[in-house]
Amino acid sequence: MKTLSDQAIGTAHGKIILIGEHSVVYNEPAIALPFPAANVEVRIKAIDGESQIHSSYYDGSLANAPDSLNNLKKIIETICQDFSVSTSGMQIEILSLIPPERGMGSSAAVATALIRALHHYFEQSLSTDLLLHYIEISEKIAHGNPSGLDARITSGTKPVFFVKTKEPETFDLQVSGYLIAADTGLKGQTREAVQDVALLLKKSKRKTKQLLSSLGSLTNQAKQAIERDDISALGTILSKAHQHLSDLNVSNAQLDRLVCTAIKQGALGAKLTGSGRGGCVIALAKTVEQARHIAKELMKNGAVETWVHSLGADKHE
Ligand code: MEV
Repeated sequence: MKTLSDQAIGTAHGKIILIGEHSVVYNEPAIALPFPAANVEVRIKAIDGESQIHSSYYDGSLANAPDSLNNLKKIIETICQDFSVSTSGMQIEILSLIPPERGMGSSAAVATALIRALHHYFEQSLSTDLLLHYIEISEKIAHGNPSGLDARITSGTKPVFFVKTKEPETFDLQVSGYLIAADTGLKGQTREAVQDVALLLKKSKRKTKQLLSSLGSLTNQAKQAIERDDISALGTILSKAHQHLSDLNVSNAQLDRLVCTAIKQGALGAKLTGSGRGGCVIALAKTVEQARHIAKELMKNGAVETWVHSLGADKHE
């Protein structure tokens, strides 16, 4: 029996796609990294009456939550149904440091934290397969037809080499260099961008297929560059991937500007990350000083927030 002071907590973190976004939807590989600098916590406690949600984007009853929270509503309903319990009597607080709709896996991370918190709250165990099953329900509502990459990476703690139809390979990242992430401040458009790539594939089949398979090859080359700790080669590969994503029509002026700025300021390579059309870019630098300099210049050129993340150890700033 829950008392009013009981509180259950679930956490998750954001992700950065190093390479392979969009082509991953077509069974090409992608590499994604957990991004602990951006994380989410969901707290649930018992209250009397109707369930309430408290978050930075909505404060109010679960029943009146806006359509943008339909994915979370569905998780709560499904889990409560699976446990044969009522959806009322909970205060659900969502504390997220992941900017939403920026390709950092915010929706999958919030879903993960919520699913974990609900399982703690109802004192039920949660296997990885069950967690992924619930995240998929949520991500289908949030993004249409996701590859499952966000679900995998926001629920785990290691970098992942991911192919949609296969068991993901996790690996330890030991590259001598730094990753800079910069937010354009504009919402990415995952659903639209994924749909537009599908349309492009219908319209110009040969060229689009070639771009997608070339992104797959670049991802394999990126894995090899990581394995031989070759940050310069990795940078060149990331820049080529940005060009391909731009040819797929998922970049935009703000992303291109940040990519150009990073290269001009000495980055070894740069690209958009996530769905594109907004969201974030990533860039690589050899030293932390260079990374900080690039981050500063990105802020002067339109970024609203930057992060510097070591690729050598699990450190971030
Ligand atoms: C979005 O974070 C990544 C995309 O590849 C879509 C997906 O994998 O579902 C654009």
